[in-house]
Amino acid sequence: MPEASFPTGYQRALVTGATSGIGKAIVLALRDAGLQVIAVGRSPDALAELASEPGVTTLQADVRDSKAFSAALEGLTVDVLVNNAGVLSTRAAFQEIDEAEIDNMIDINLKAPLQLARNVLPGMVERSRGHVFFIGSSAGRAPHPGAAVYGASKAGVSLFCDALRCDLLGTGVRVTEIAPGRVQTQLYRTAMGMQAAGSELYDGYESIQPEDIAQLLLAALRMPAAVDVSRLEVFPTAQAVGGSRMVKTLS
Ligand SMILES: NC(=O)c1ccc[n+]([C@@H]2O[C@H](COP(=O)([O-])OP(=O)(O)OC[C@H]3O[C@@H](n4cnc5c(N)ncnc54)[C@H](OP(=O)(O)O)[C@@H]3O)[C@@H](O)[C@H]2O)c1
Repeated sequence: MPEASFPTGYQRALVTGATSGIGKAIVLALRDAGLQVIAVGRSPDALAELASEPGVTTLQADVRDSKAFSAALEGLTVDVLVNNAGVLSTRAAFQEIDEAEIDNMIDINLKAPLQLARNVLPGMVERSRGHVFFIGSSAGRAPHPGAAVYGASKAGVSLFCDALRCDLLGTGVRVTEIAPGRVQTQLYRTAMGMQAAGSELYDGYESIQPEDIAQLLLAALRMPAAVDVSRLEVFPTAQAVGGSRMVKTLS
């Protein structure tokens, strides 16, 4: 049963990276909260499963294909955009990564969300109504070994959010960055395989679940129109970043 409508009158949301993890949880949470949701992803099987959900329509598209979005969104009102799709395609040291990974992570994690925001924002500004979410990362706010390019892409997203808020001042459109630490998803499947991810990253403590991130997003969305939750950082209680680690060469 849909819950009460949002104070801001939002009706339709578009979520990228909807076929897995955080994006899928956000699609279902927004739908349960009464919004019509366009779920974007590439995996046909996962999209077919989502398409069977009431209140959800699907769009099969690569987020790098901005022309596909222009065509698919023609004439559609999008009140809530969730730029969630992202990849961490390698965890190797920067000097060892395949050069193609640089473009891959910058294109998917940084350029694509900007292009999609550029697509929907004129309509939001015209209606004086809208909320754009970006799923950043703790890796965009502090250094993580083996994640230099990923971190650069997420740091770019983070500063972009701050600058966008300046440009949108007075329009009524809100911008929220959610920057999580480790969440239990498929994100590490390419970089290390899910079995290794399980034992190295997720076993032995209670992880953040995708549904937890979806609830945070809903909380920001439900705030009165005059309140913009600009940034939410969230970590597992068992994770911290920072401190200092020395590599000693003297015996
Ligand atoms: N898990 C974590 O610990 C963590 C922490 C901080 C931030 N994040 C961020 O959270 C977001 C969601 O990741 P997740 O953890 O939920 O990982 P996930 O389970 O791997 O989900 C990633 C999603 O992105 C989609 N995607 C990837 N490349 C795409 C492309 N080129 N075009 C369209 N869709 C694409 C995938 O869909 P298809 O496979 O169908 O294309 C999938 O639905 C990412 O931005 C990630 O950086 C995750």
